Amino acid sequence: MTDQLIVFDTTLRDGEQSPGASMTRDEKLRIARQLERMRVNVIEAGFAAASNGDFESVRAIAEVIKDSTICSLARANENDIRRSGEAIKPAASGRIHTFIATSPIHMEKKLRMSPDQVLDQAVKAIGWAREYTDDIEFSAEDAGRSEIDYLCRIFEAVIKAGATTINVPDTVGYNVPEQFAATIRTLIERVPNADKVVWSVHCHNDLGLAVANSLAAVRAGARQVECTVNGLGERAGNASLEEVVMAVRTRRDIYNCDTRIDATQIVPASKLVSGITGFPVQPNKAIVGANAFSHESGIHQDGVLKHRETYEIMRAEDVGWGANKLVLGKHSGRNAFRSRLIELGAAIESEAHLNHAFARFKELADKKHEIFDEDLQALISDEAVTPEQEHYRLVASRFHSETGETPAARLTLNVGDKEIQAEAEGSGPVDAAFKAIETVAKSGTELLLYSVNAITTGTDAQGEVTVRLSRDGKVVNGQGADTDIIVASAKAYLNALNKLHNKFERLNPQI
Ligand code: KIV
Ligand code: ZN
Repeated sequence: MTDQLIVFDTTLRDGEQSPGASMTRDEKLRIARQLERMRVNVIEAGFAAASNGDFESVRAIAEVIKDSTICSLARANENDIRRSGEAIKPAASGRIHTFIATSPIHMEKKLRMSPDQVLDQAVKAIGWAREYTDDIEFSAEDAGRSEIDYLCRIFEAVIKAGATTINVPDTVGYNVPEQFAATIRTLIERVPNADKVVWSVHCHNDLGLAVANSLAAVRAGARQVECTVNGLGERAGNASLEEVVMAVRTRRDIYNCDTRIDATQIVPASKLVSGITGFPVQPNKAIVGANAFSHESGIHQDGVLKHRETYEIMRAEDVGWGANKLVLGKHSGRNAFRSRLIELGAAIESEAHLNHAFARFKELADKKHEIFDEDLQALISDEAVTPEQEHYRLVASRFHSETGETPAARLTLNVGDKEIQAEAEGSGPVDAAFKAIETVAKSGTELLLYSVNAITTGTDAQGEVTVRLSRDGKVVNGQGADTDIIVASAKAYLNALNKLHNKFERLNPQI
């Protein structure tokens, strides 16, 4: 019998701590729905005490997700735990994840607490959490640099107090696989009642070892892995969900466990997270990179054509490549469109909003006959700004780009209730388009990021552009999709300006 490995996804919490990756509540909801579709066991939806916005988004996720446990992070203090407890109340299954640092350097220099005080605080934290749920996870922050005897002591105490999952984070990504595995093995051997809890690991990727450390810990007995889609996360990121899941599945002979993940949802999840955060996936990234399953050398191509397994250990379609189902077409009706948007987690606020989105869908279906889920996800991203909030709108565009000539853009924009012409030259047509918009908007923003992704395959695919703008410490991501990437770029820029205009709140606006 193979054991179950619990997949705890923290894309919406640690992933969101990647500089620039903060998300709005609606974006988090869409990712949460995709994680549920992928059959993640636990979704860490956020840090409820961080702000009202964080609280609201954890609560909103707890209200709609039914098939995954919803978890909120909390420092080991009463206020954080009560905020988390309130936020997860609507969940069908809710967890509080409380943490306190246990390494000498963190206890002495950061917390300025003695080891006994830290232990007391941890036990109290479990007591507060128990008032809300029986599903309580305790993390010893910086466990990777903590003393093993002290870890045994604090874990024994929190298990006695009621913790049900014990998480061992390598917070600063300092550990190496053999050593980390030995730590997990020792803890499981030495901590009384170790068999009554689930042992979990949370590895950061500072030395590029997050997945290797997590897998070594699984071999040593860990049965929960904390990870993120595309390996997003603080600094160099966390262990990547897709790599951990496919490693244990492909090498079940070694790991003797498996997850309940529907792997065909991995690539759609990766694209969704990349589109929303604007963090592109490197082409050679395992599992979800564009080249992960393409063979360049003639010898390899020949081998794969003769017998696929000569060079492939996994099948692209098993992780969701090319699985983009044709979902809707030119003749699909409004009701089919509405139900698919709801399934994808879109927040369609009103009939007017639905009509607007439907009109855009019909326009797209005229240009591109096959509409996939990824196209709809891009359309939803554009629709994050409702028609009423669309202060700036692209009405028409003309771009000039010719060898030896200066690229230029001429745009017709709707600004409020006025139609305005805008023109500019630039170093390329995208630059010209942005400059033309700025002749009108004079936004005073700084462009922090510009990225383009092909949403589906084929030359008729839409390009999805993300533009990140900042002004006075406020950061917004704008998205635009179109079969013409210059038009997509102009739309993304206007989408970001509309978000600034409407004071959209990103939850943790780090740059
Ligand atoms: O890296 C870390 O230690 C964390 C904890 C809060 C689990 O993110
Ligand atoms: Zn972390």
